[in-house]
Amino acid sequence: MVAHELSQQALIPALSDEHLELQRMVRNFAQKEIAPIATEHDESGEFPLETIKKMGAMGLMGIEVPEEYGGAGMDTLAYALTMIEVAKADASHSTIVSVNNSLYCFALNKFGTEAQKQKYLTPVASGEKIGAYSLTEPMSGSDAGTMESRAVLNAAGTHYVINGRKSWVTSGPVADYVLLFTMTDPDRKHKGVSAFLIEADKPGFIRGKKEPKLGIRASATSEIVYENYEVPVENMMGERGDGFKIAMTVLDAGRIGIASQAQGIAEAAYEASVQYARERQAFGGPIGQFQMIQQKIADMKTRIEASRLLIYSACAAKERSKTTGERYTVEASMAKLFASETAMFVTDEAIQIHGGMGYSKEMPIERYYRDARITRIYEGTSEIQRMVIARNELGLR
Ligand code: CAA
Repeated sequence: MVAHELSQQALIPALSDEHLELQRMVRNFAQKEIAPIATEHDESGEFPLETIKKMGAMGLMGIEVPEEYGGAGMDTLAYALTMIEVAKADASHSTIVSVNNSLYCFALNKFGTEAQKQKYLTPVASGEKIGAYSLTEPMSGSDAGTMESRAVLNAAGTHYVINGRKSWVTSGPVADYVLLFTMTDPDRKHKGVSAFLIEADKPGFIRGKKEPKLGIRASATSEIVYENYEVPVENMMGERGDGFKIAMTVLDAGRIGIASQAQGIAEAAYEASVQYARERQAFGGPIGQFQMIQQKIADMKTRIEASRLLIYSACAAKERSKTTGERYTVEASMAKLFASETAMFVTDEAIQIHGGMGYSKEMPIERYYRDARITRIYEGTSEIQRMVIARNELGLR
């Protein structure tokens, strides 16, 4: 679909009473229970298990998963609104919510068998267990089809034996289950990738070093090493060789989540900046009276609202795809690209407006800036999003 067709279809969904109620509930929870602990967890890097468990009890760890599998049975917009509110309080929490919801649960719900859903979706969607998604390897990041890890079918045909090293696994240090992408047929390149559901408490699953990160420091990220890990054949998701397409389909959903995370960070930085511009006095009045501050406020606000429209439009496209089966790759990539670059712009300007206070750890502004940075990298860099958008528009592969 080309650009003008997209814009003709860009239906922006209105928020229903149910959405508004959810938004209020998540906002209250996030501001009361998450915002006050954000700085402490940022400093310590400690995983916020207690608040994550509470969000699980509220239905926020499986928002789009049907109730019969432990989820809240809501739509993509509900997920985006939740992500925005959680990220506004603390981006680390929203990273954990995002991977659990739109990478792990979304994949299980869409591609899992009934038995896989019963065993591996219900406990994660209800927040009892934590799920992770594992595609990246030390030598395979943006070029996701080139992984070196291997899964080899045993002689009896009952198990695949997995060996290799995966990196940058969000929630890797704490995950109970991992959706793993690895090579079963290396000669077939991306068509040789298969997806498996992995239990973390089995022999051969080794949690590697935890990454010391610039931002989202309380969302634990680690390597996972597989040493002769045996996974039963019934834990393959989809058919052998379907893995790359599953990984890409799932990332389309995930990118709406990261766009929403970026939106939440940008909104938090923007609201703090407006308040500061009203209160901070210089040259005989509040700094907001100066045109150079006003220009920043106007540009921040405009980009934030444009991001919101792209995110809502991507949510609508994803909802439509549930009936039409059409991909919403371009809408998701545009939302992620624009929202993550907006978050960088807004958090940078927020520091400028706050001056020295923006650079100090006494205020959360510097954390917003550090947290925003990852949104231009994970789940596909800005460069990859531009490539995806342009290739689709030009009809290239
Ligand atoms: N949905 C469904 N199928 C898709 C797809 C999508 N969005 N994108 C591609 N495919 C299919 C293609 O149709 C093609 O299928 P056929 O061979 O049957 O025609 C196949 O996948 C290969 O497609 P390409 O030739 O386009 O593949 P490519 O090797 O050129 O790579 C890419 C495409 C877009 C660059 C992809 O590799 C990509 O998105 N890279 C970025 C990976 C990424 O986002 N990594 C982040 C991992 S998660 C993370 O960040 C950590 C975390 O825990 C949060």
